[in-house]
Amino acid sequence: MRLICSIVLSLVCSFVFSQSNFFNPGKQWKDTNGVHINAHGGGMLFVDGAYYWYGEYKTSGRGGNTSLKGISCYSSKDLYNWKNEGIVLKVEQDHNSEITKGCVMERPKVVFNKKTGKYIMWFHLELKGQGYDAARAAVAISDTPNGPFKFKKSYRPNKGVWPINFDDKFKSASSDESALKSWTPEWREAIKNGMFIRRDFDKGQMSRDMTVYVDDNDKAYLIHASEDNLTLHISELIDDYLDFTEKWTRVAPADHNEAPAVFKKGGVYYMITSGCTGWDPNEARSFKSKSIWGPWESLGNPCIGKDASLTFHSQSTYILSVEGKKDQFIFMADRWKPDNPIDGSYIWLPITITDEKPILKWFDKWSLLDFKEN
Ligand code: GAL
Repeated sequence: MRLICSIVLSLVCSFVFSQSNFFNPGKQWKDTNGVHINAHGGGMLFVDGAYYWYGEYKTSGRGGNTSLKGISCYSSKDLYNWKNEGIVLKVEQDHNSEITKGCVMERPKVVFNKKTGKYIMWFHLELKGQGYDAARAAVAISDTPNGPFKFKKSYRPNKGVWPINFDDKFKSASSDESALKSWTPEWREAIKNGMFIRRDFDKGQMSRDMTVYVDDNDKAYLIHASEDNLTLHISELIDDYLDFTEKWTRVAPADHNEAPAVFKKGGVYYMITSGCTGWDPNEARSFKSKSIWGPWESLGNPCIGKDASLTFHSQSTYILSVEGKKDQFIFMADRWKPDNPIDGSYIWLPITITDEKPILKWFDKWSLLDFKEN
């Protein structure tokens, strides 16, 4: 009886929720079962003709931002219609596990490692009951894009190593810096000069909001909000993408950037970030650089038009390079709903690049066919 009911239900669903061929930013986005997609802070991977969208599985109510299930995955051949692939990295029931139920798993990004043939997921992990203090990078591995992923470890990157191009004179603390009052110009200057790098040198650098970028030469980088979210770090991954080479650099020291998303066009790297206001939206920022190692030049807010100062009420999570299209990029962002996180919606917008500056404009409804390649 149960089987018959579920067959009838799925037939009804596929009839009612017919195929879509456009994006509807900010609206409910139903999967092929007619359920609002639950993959927040997401990232994307293209494998053998299909896109895989990984994200945070949220639940209802104020506690819905903690991980009660794990990381979800959806697949699609056309980017409009998404099939639920289930939870691909599950929280663990063991209270001693670093990913025990009730921890915080955010912003998962999955990449394929050509050398090992494995799918590698990096995400931001906060340990259960410790707020956002742990600030760890975490990694999991799978043989297939739709999981199951096996959790490997979590830690803070770059323990005991200085960033590249870090002046020797900043490797030891100035005597008076611990007395500086937060948010004063002197305090910001001390942060620029590495006060928090020195503080975290022995235990590893913080890693909160993050993305992973794989370059044309297959080198991969974790780009993560560090130093109490004041400075972004770019940390190179080793060949199997499961650890760090310990080569790392800083972007926009003391400038307070979160939610990094990176893409590359014509040999130029672009990064879109947000400011730091928790679940509330703020004005996005953008940067460009000729090398992943910088210098990163600030280009200001990429958004134009109504609500540009609030990134159209959203926060960046990933930039998708559309497969088979030269230089067609989609800005993926989240419209968070902290009172009922499961209702959070997705803001996907096309990126245009004019004079080496990314531009984002609002569209109520759009499709890939509406846009020329850049
Ligand atoms: C945001 C961040 C989210 C989440 C949230 C928690 O600034 O981008 O990923 O960590 O803070 O308050």
